[in-house]
Amino acid sequence: GGWIARTLRSEGFEGRIVLIGEEPHLPYERPPLSKDALLGEVEVDSTYFWPPESYEELNIETMLGVRATAIDPGGKQVSLDNGETSNYDRLAITTGARARLLPIDGAELEGVHYLRTMDDTLAIRGAVEKGSTALIVGGGWIGLEVAATLKKLGCHSVVVEFADRLCGRAVTPDISDWMLKFHQSHGIDVRLGTGVERFEGDGKIERAVLSDGDTIDCSLAVVGIGVIPNSELAETAGLNVENGIVVDELCRTSDPDVFSAGDVTSHPNDLLGKRVRLESWENAQNQGIAAGKSMLDKGEPYAEIPWFWSDQHDANIQMIGLPENWDEVVTRGDPAEGSFLTMYLSGGRIIGAISVNNARDIRFAKRLMAAKKVVSPDDLANPDIKMQALLKG
Ligand code: NAI
Repeated sequence: GGWIARTLRSEGFEGRIVLIGEEPHLPYERPPLSKDALLGEVEVDSTYFWPPESYEELNIETMLGVRATAIDPGGKQVSLDNGETSNYDRLAITTGARARLLPIDGAELEGVHYLRTMDDTLAIRGAVEKGSTALIVGGGWIGLEVAATLKKLGCHSVVVEFADRLCGRAVTPDISDWMLKFHQSHGIDVRLGTGVERFEGDGKIERAVLSDGDTIDCSLAVVGIGVIPNSELAETAGLNVENGIVVDELCRTSDPDVFSAGDVTSHPNDLLGKRVRLESWENAQNQGIAAGKSMLDKGEPYAEIPWFWSDQHDANIQMIGLPENWDEVVTRGDPAEGSFLTMYLSGGRIIGAISVNNARDIRFAKRLMAAKKVVSPDDLANPDIKMQALLKG
């Protein structure tokens, strides 16, 4: 939403812009929430996209702490939970996603947290007790980043993951295996193929009973078991919704005056040859910019190679593409050394890659993928051949 508002102004729109947000904060970056902000190394205002005064300078009206409750596309009006309504000529729905809740006994106990917003991070930060055990439910991005950060804060982190491998929604099995060993080597207790039956405690969490019968005494639990797109507003308004708000390549919904961008949308991606709903920082920003231009009828088709990153312990992990069906896997560097790039190829072309502590080479892998270049696996694996050299010719 923030990027759309800003893009409308930078593209020359002179009319009224109203940014309605349920959270009390100005638009902020979410990546620090599970890392530096949880560590206590950055404060709320340093995560803001832009300083508060810039909204006034750009003449963007903000309505914070206000939830939109209904959209009337016929009357071009949005109802708000403060009893007011807001009219529009064009509307963008950028409601993102919310944390999926864990439906078990004891989930309402004090000390059981989710992590999606800045306020969630501040609450977890306030609940950390050095030297105690923190239970993390879900071994996906939230779970693994939080486990690493809480470890740094002096907790003993136990990760309980339902599936038989870590981060299964996002990474390939070989990388899941690497992640398991990596987290174990940093002292994280990982339980795969395990769920939580219930939390117990007297008002406050004291222990978790796992599906394998084991009991973990803990003073804090953080649940990261995935997200649900906040598409209900759009659905009730009669817009097309299927795994998120369905938009075209110009970020237009099934109503030509209503646009959408970010985690909540399902968009056609020509580069991947399919429709995707991406849960990523980069997509939220770049699709927002694209939607802002489209709202002014200056749009260009939006499709990018997905890119994600994560910081866990001393590893910077990056991913490009959403590799599914590959016929060859090439690794450059040595996973045991903690720095490598694994590339997935189909028909001699890179269709996805994951790097650990090798941000440089994955940039070139992305360019090779975008260029759909046929490359020799031996050359890709050879550290004496620079990746950029493969772009030539
Ligand atoms: P996720 O989808 O990445 O991982 C959820 C994990 O929980 C999966 O491994 C799943 O198998 C497991 N799970 C599901 N139900 C379970 C249960 N009942 N018990 C135990 N395990 C269970 O979602 P996550 O980690 O919650 O992240 C939320 C959102 O935040 C995602 O959109 C993610 O992409 C985003 N995020 C991105 C980061 C990054 O890009 N670096 C960092 C943190 C979050």
